[in-house]
Amino acid sequence: MSEKRIIPKHVAIIMDGNGRWAKQRGKERYEGHLMGVESVRAVTRAAVRNGVEWLTLYAFSTENWGRPQAEVDAIMELFCRAVINEGEELAKQGVRVLIMGERTRFSQSVLEMIERIESVTASGDKLTMVLAFNYSSRREIVLAARSLAERVASGELKAEDITEESFAQSLMTSNIPDPDFIIRTSGECRLSNFLLWQASYSEFYFPEVLWPDFTEEEFDKAMEEFARRERRYGLV
Ligand code: IPE
Ligand code: IPE
Ligand code: MG
Repeated sequence: MSEKRIIPKHVAIIMDGNGRWAKQRGKERYEGHLMGVESVRAVTRAAVRNGVEWLTLYAFSTENWGRPQAEVDAIMELFCRAVINEGEELAKQGVRVLIMGERTRFSQSVLEMIERIESVTASGDKLTMVLAFNYSSRREIVLAARSLAERVASGELKAEDITEESFAQSLMTSNIPDPDFIIRTSGECRLSNFLLWQASYSEFYFPEVLWPDFTEEEFDKAMEEFARRERRYGLV
């Protein structure tokens, strides 16, 4: 690894392709999600090794509730199992986990696991993993607008105090830097309601590889790709 390679501070990943991975092998979609957990493990290690500080993973969108109930249940079950199995290991690696999304519609046991993973890993200081779970960027923006409107209505805030900064502070990502690099696996080139506000100046990367096949080497390849990008932010 060369000394002066530019490392993105915040990498966000849309983990896509679990279902296709399973289908290609004549397996149930669930098997794809199960293998996807392995990729999360690999990418977490690789992110820590590369010195990435923030890793946001899109695990479940609000739209994903519309999938067959059995698949939704399997994903929730997998999340709970991952919390039980991985919590201590993540803490040992210095990984802090934050769950981002509305805490509605979850069962009591999923809510308990959300609290458990956040508390078990609270002192992690190497990498913060933000797990977008029941996340919708449009919903996030609407909720921010609503909370600002309420503050204006109550006289706490003036309309002219609504700025890019105060708006960003009202989002679920208020204490999180914008993503430098957004990766979506499986060859799909869309955001699917992910970080619409925060992605203004992100670099994008759409590898063909399906999420269960995304290894540490694939992550390193992505880091090399990022290092080749030239970010201009509207300047010359
Ligand atoms: C991503 O894989 C995981 C979730 C959305 C939970 P998919 O389940 O979307 O896999 P494909 O896109 O059907 O292959
Ligand atoms: C986006 O993937 C959501 C997650 C990866 C969690 P989807 O597979 O749900 O998105 P679409 O349906 O292809 O846009
Ligand atoms: Mg998909």
